[in-house]
Amino acid sequence: MSKKNTETFTLIDNSSGKSFELPVIKGSLGPSVIDVRKLYAQTGYFTYDPGFNSTGSCESNLTYIDGDIGRLLHRGYSIEDLAEKSDFMDVAHLLLNGDLPTPKQKKSFVHDVTYHTMLNEQLANFYRGFRRDAHPMAIMCGVVGGLSAFYHDSTDIYDAHQRMVASFRLIAKMPTIAAMAYKYSIGQPFNYPRNDLSYAENFLYMMFAVPAEEYIISSVMTQAIDRILILHADHEQNASTSTVRLAGSSGANPFACIAAGVAALWGPAHGGANEAVLKMLEEIGQKENIPKFIKYAKDKNDPFRLMGFGHRVYKNYDPRAKVMQKTCHEVLKELNLNDPLLELAMEMEKIALSDPYFVEKKLFPNIDFYSGILLKALGFPTSMFTVLFAVARTVGWVAQWKEMIEDPGQRIGRPRQLYTGHPERDYIPLEKRR
Ligand code: ACO
Repeated sequence: MSKKNTETFTLIDNSSGKSFELPVIKGSLGPSVIDVRKLYAQTGYFTYDPGFNSTGSCESNLTYIDGDIGRLLHRGYSIEDLAEKSDFMDVAHLLLNGDLPTPKQKKSFVHDVTYHTMLNEQLANFYRGFRRDAHPMAIMCGVVGGLSAFYHDSTDIYDAHQRMVASFRLIAKMPTIAAMAYKYSIGQPFNYPRNDLSYAENFLYMMFAVPAEEYIISSVMTQAIDRILILHADHEQNASTSTVRLAGSSGANPFACIAAGVAALWGPAHGGANEAVLKMLEEIGQKENIPKFIKYAKDKNDPFRLMGFGHRVYKNYDPRAKVMQKTCHEVLKELNLNDPLLELAMEMEKIALSDPYFVEKKLFPNIDFYSGILLKALGFPTSMFTVLFAVARTVGWVAQWKEMIEDPGQRIGRPRQLYTGHPERDYIPLEKRR
């Protein structure tokens, strides 16, 4: 809960000599915020903050990040504890409902998610309209948005029951949608979900089983997927979550909002980075080439960036990347795999973290730096990496969307701008234009 503070922030307009008192609001953790909601009415000025470096866009009690020390909490629990001691359904319940479930709540929550895993059969035809070589994220954007054409009974955002049903549907159907995108791309038949399996097991089954053979679900792979899902579940007001909130603020239905989130996640500066990291490591190929790529990354005239490095909020090691790196080692060992890309990534990290450019700019590995290597070890093709991120992040998107709709102070998101275009001018008829 935010507290109105007695503290204020004084703003002085040097041109008029007038001063304005702006309220300061304290959160439960982290820096206080200056409330500028009435700034324009009081002063005639807007704030200017492209990229939202210093702007809090909402009040939220889901996730807290302290980027200076590399700390991430969901509803007060550390990501390290959740990754080690919880499972994804626990974390999903925590994010959606505010607390870890009791055993009874967990049973009912898992049941509710599990019994929404199937897709309307008509949606299979939708897939067949895509090219076989379509990127699975392109298919995800289309199919997730298309859900609103099928589940009309959960699109009334003002009905709490419908909001909950839509939330369950989205969390439950995302693995099915993702696995079908993959199966379609490789020309294999779709696998229907199996409700006797856990969330992670069912996802692996739908991804990798074929009707011709028995599929044995590996417990190592299941645990790794579950951990990947936990690590990606939510991350406060990142680009895709802010997109979901902005789309939702206009009253759009939840399926359309999550489709908007999928689109925003796809970009290589955000969730698309895991795919880009693997491509980059493959291009680097061997340790001897690392200095050359580090040089490109530091060159202001070269658009190349070290993918999987840097973060808007973390100016320290991303705590998720630490868990991901450890999981990567454990899984490769258990599966008896030796991926030279892991060695290469670790060498790259070592070199970058001792280079003054990266040290001064506080550029550390983010979650995407190691997740691709882990997903590759689990048998996921590169094009599916961001899809898996989308599957995991759906619970965060949905929880943030619900929190926004349930906030009595919610208004349409409508930023302003600094106009630098032409002043008003006279219209010139076509025959007189030169
Ligand atoms: N390689 C080289 N230089 C970098 C990198 C990088 N990966 N990241 C940032 N920098 C440099 C910038 O050139 C800039 O230098 P300057 O101050 O001399 O101009 C400085 O560090 C700050 O970078 P910004 O782009 O201003 O930082 P911003 O917060 O806007 O961007 C971002 C953060 C997009 C994550 C950026 O670090 C990046 O592009 N990283 C690579 C892509 C990536 O890994 N994305 C995944 C992010 S995590 C996630 O979404 C799950």
